[in-house]
Amino acid sequence: LVRGVSEPDLAGRHVVISAGGTREPLDPVRYLGNRSSGKQGYALARTAAARGARVTLIEANTGIPDPAGVDVVHVSTAVQLREAVLKAAADADAVVMAAAVADFRPAEYATGKIKKKDDGGAPTVELVRNPDILAEISAGRARPGQVIVGFAAETDDVLANGRDKLRRKGCDLLVVNEVGERKTFGAEASEAVVLAADGAETPVPYGPKEDLADTVWDLVAPRMTTGNG
Ligand code: CTP
Ligand code: CA
Repeated sequence: LVRGVSEPDLAGRHVVISAGGTREPLDPVRYLGNRSSGKQGYALARTAAARGARVTLIEANTGIPDPAGVDVVHVSTAVQLREAVLKAAADADAVVMAAAVADFRPAEYATGKIKKKDDGGAPTVELVRNPDILAEISAGRARPGQVIVGFAAETDDVLANGRDKLRRKGCDLLVVNEVGERKTFGAEASEAVVLAADGAETPVPYGPKEDLADTVWDLVAPRMTTGNG
C-alpha cells in the first residue's frame, strides 16, 4: 500500500489531535508535569495532513514548531485542553487523544511563590481529579460516526489493561504502548498494539512514529461512517 500524498484518503475530513503533556500549576514558578514529548501527536498531524485531512492540533507544552498546513491551538493545563478539544471536536470526523493529560491538579493555586519555613518542615500538596476528556467525548459524540482514538502507556499486563481501558473509556480504538527503558517517552520510534472496540488487534512493529501514525489513520479511515464533506 502506497501512503501519503499519492493517496489522499482523508480528503474532506476534519481530524482533531491532542499532543504533548499538560502542566498543572502549583504557584507562579512551579507545575506538576509529565514526560510526554508530543512527537507522536505531531507525527499524527503530519501524516493526516499528507493524506488530505483538515487538521486541528491541540498542543500542550511541546515546544515543537507548528507543522505547515495544520491549525495549531496552544494550551497548557488539562482544563484548557478539555475546552479546546470539545470546541474542535464539534465538527470533527475523528478525534485522537495522543496527549498525556494529568489525572490530578493541585487543589489550590498559590498566587505567590511557595516559600520554605524556618521549622524545617515541608508542605503537603492536596490534589483533585482532572476531567477525563477521552471518556467525555466518547460518551457524548459530537457527531454520529465520529471515530475516537485514545493512547495508553502501560508497564504490565499490557493487552489486558488495554482492553479494560478501551471498554472503560468507550472509544473506538486504543493505541497501547509498552513503556520501558528507551521506549516511547521522547524516543523517535515506538512499538504498539492498536486495539479496536470491534475486537480487532493490530500490532505495529518497532519503528518510526510516522508508521504508527499511518496505521492509526488506516484504521480510522474505514470507521468514519459520516458522509464525506
Ligand atoms: N485522558 C484524557 N483525560 C484524562 C486522562 C487521560 O483524555 N484526564 C486520555 C489520554 O489522552 C489517553 C487516554 O485517556 O488517550 C488514556 O490515558 P491513561 O492515562 O492511560 O488513562 P487513565 O484513565 O488516566 O488511566 P491510568 O489510571 O492508568 O492513568
Ligand atoms: Ca492517566
